[in-house]
Amino acid sequence: GKDGYRHYMEKELHEHPVAIGQTLQRITDPASKTIALPKMPFDPAQVPRVTITACGSAFYAGMVGRYWLESLARVPVEIDVASEMRYRDAPQPDKGVALLISQSGETADTLGVLRSLKKAGQSIVSVLNVEHSTMGRESDLVLGMVAGPEISVASTKAFTAQLSVLAALSIDFARARGTIDKTREETLTASLLDLPSRAAEVFTRVEAIQEMARIVAEARDVLYLGRGICTPIAFEGALKLKEISYIHAEAYAAGELKHGPISLIDRTVPVVAIAPSTILFDKTLSNLQEAKARGGRILAFTDAAGAKRLEGVAEHVVILPDVDAFVAPILYAIPVQILAYEVALLKGTDVDQPRNLAKSVTVE
Ligand code: M6R
Repeated sequence: GKDGYRHYMEKELHEHPVAIGQTLQRITDPASKTIALPKMPFDPAQVPRVTITACGSAFYAGMVGRYWLESLARVPVEIDVASEMRYRDAPQPDKGVALLISQSGETADTLGVLRSLKKAGQSIVSVLNVEHSTMGRESDLVLGMVAGPEISVASTKAFTAQLSVLAALSIDFARARGTIDKTREETLTASLLDLPSRAAEVFTRVEAIQEMARIVAEARDVLYLGRGICTPIAFEGALKLKEISYIHAEAYAAGELKHGPISLIDRTVPVVAIAPSTILFDKTLSNLQEAKARGGRILAFTDAAGAKRLEGVAEHVVILPDVDAFVAPILYAIPVQILAYEVALLKGTDVDQPRNLAKSVTVE
């Protein structure tokens, strides 16, 4: 049941802290602040490339995973959506690893890629919520999310659970490849273990998110911007808004704004920025100033320090708890999904069963 919530989506949004916590419980050792994943069926130090494939929200989780694997573990990463990867006939490296991400474990395109990359000799690692699924049975190793059943068509808690697994996997690879030391592993793991409490704090900001939702609900088109590791969160926000509120949204890496989409900007197109005050904040800030100078209305998800810097630029900010840059994409996914939910409520759409969509896409 919905446990008194209006929609499964609302219930599942509130389950973010638990989904992250339970997922991490299985794959970390809180006492030593280290990652405790099952032994890989290959030596991570010898892996020439990781090929990430998924669809929809799971693909955006994979995009974040790419940043982590590249920057922490120094592993070359290839990534594409499953429907494209399936027919690219791309060369696969000897000893390569294919990483598939799926909530359901039944998505036809992702399963198709699993099978073709297996044939191409890649080790198959899947990040799945439903472990006893077709993908689960056909993988060399399943890394389970422990998000519990996700009923709402719009993915919520499975997304942060996927990210939690990918973060842990990246630390595990980094340790094996000697690209981080023990202290760094402890700091990164501690920032992950701290997430369930930070995630719970997000729900004290719901009123500020509702205020933002009132502006977004009036729009016909919305632009989402992010940078670096938060760019995929902009994509996730735009997807979720389209999916359940039927408002057209597009996401861009903020640096791409002046290569085209800035021509769209006027008073009627709100710009939603995913902007924690990490190293790339100044660059995002100047992109937002450009958008504002063209009459854009800037709405930002940021932290206390970021909010100060956005004074006079952003019309509305949602101030989120301070977290290590490493885990910022996990935390920021939550308010971005809540925003879509609040807009859908204002629009009166069928939140849990949006038109034309199925929970699991088992046909090509
Ligand atoms: O079950 P999967 O994770 O493989 O599903 C992938 C996508 O279909 C899914 O994430 C979809 O994009 C969601 N409805 C997004 O909210």
